[in-house]
Amino acid sequence: NSYCVIMAGGLGKRFWPVSTKACPKQFCDILNVGKSFLRQTFERANQIFDTRNIFIVTGSAYEELTKQQIPEIPSENILKEPFGKNTAPCVAYAAYRIARINPHASMVVVPSDHFITNDVVYLDNIQKGISFVEQSGGLLTIGIKPTRPETGYGYIQIKKNKFSEFISKVKTFTEKPNKELAKVFLESGDFLWNAGIFIWNVDDIIEEFKTYLEDIYLLFEQEYKNVENPDSPENIAHIYGQCRNISIDYGIMEKSAKVYVMKGEFGWSDVGTWHSFHEISPKDENNNVSNSEQVRLIETKECIINVPKDKKVIIEGIENCIIAENNDILMICHRDHEDNIRHFDDILKHTT
Ligand code: GDD
Ligand code: MG
Repeated sequence: NSYCVIMAGGLGKRFWPVSTKACPKQFCDILNVGKSFLRQTFERANQIFDTRNIFIVTGSAYEELTKQQIPEIPSENILKEPFGKNTAPCVAYAAYRIARINPHASMVVVPSDHFITNDVVYLDNIQKGISFVEQSGGLLTIGIKPTRPETGYGYIQIKKNKFSEFISKVKTFTEKPNKELAKVFLESGDFLWNAGIFIWNVDDIIEEFKTYLEDIYLLFEQEYKNVENPDSPENIAHIYGQCRNISIDYGIMEKSAKVYVMKGEFGWSDVGTWHSFHEISPKDENNNVSNSEQVRLIETKECIINVPKDKKVIIEGIENCIIAENNDILMICHRDHEDNIRHFDDILKHTT
């Protein structure tokens, strides 16, 4: 008796203007595979979870988009947040929602915007993880072998004595370290990246909320658990209005003494930036990545081009740029400056 929770409330600001407030990254087909990240995530989960056992947590503004992309999902399985309060409230909401069906169920929490290359191994890892937590309890994460000193991820240090062939106890969990620390972690060889996929029993995670995020725990205990019609928009708005904004990583994973990790053996990328998108995409002989056959490139190198499919585009003599167009916005940005992209929307709003 296991449930899958897809977290789909992020804004994907670093992929602007392709990812927008009206249609954030998880609802986009940035990889050009014919379906959105969310749709891919759902189809993957649906191979081992019954549709009724899949919940999607997203902003109420994205209910229609979610229904359009996942028409199979029962309406009551879309948990709507009036506003994003990061992943801890999202997980608490899902846990309390599932607890109403079965307080002893296990749940698998997955991001909605990742690129996974080996579904068979991925699903096998998930199933092994479910069996583990159902027998032993604890908070299980999936770890990925790090390849660069990335500062946008969580780092998991493994205890040397292995718990089982696949699973180790976690010694430390450090969310988003600075560059120096990330380098130390990478070089030590003792660390894995947190893939952002979590497996636990509903009662165990609620217990951890009680210990480490008591305010959120009390809100759901008092305002959700025994309330009539707890999922009404009014009630959820009431709870979220008082909820702290914090991620599950900072709020619980860094602090809990019950964290375990399973090394994920599947291909994984969180496709968090245009840079990581470039890394995983097929490139032409000059290392350019383009999403459309209508784009003509002449003496152009190391560029990322993401434009509407019906647009004829010709680019000559450009290097190291991101060229992205969506709706009425065209963005051209040097790849070394891509950290600034998440501010561009605001800059434009204040100049027009
Ligand atoms: N429902 C809901 N509400 N979903 C949310 C919210 C929210 O307020 N905020 C984020 N999400 C969703 C995002 O859409 C994404 O699918 C997932 O939760 C993770 O959120 P991110 O904002 O993308 O987290 P991150 O990438 O900075 O960090 C997490 O993922 C890394 C791996 O990709 C952490 O778990 C890191 O430790 C991890 O390494
Ligand atoms: Mg992310």
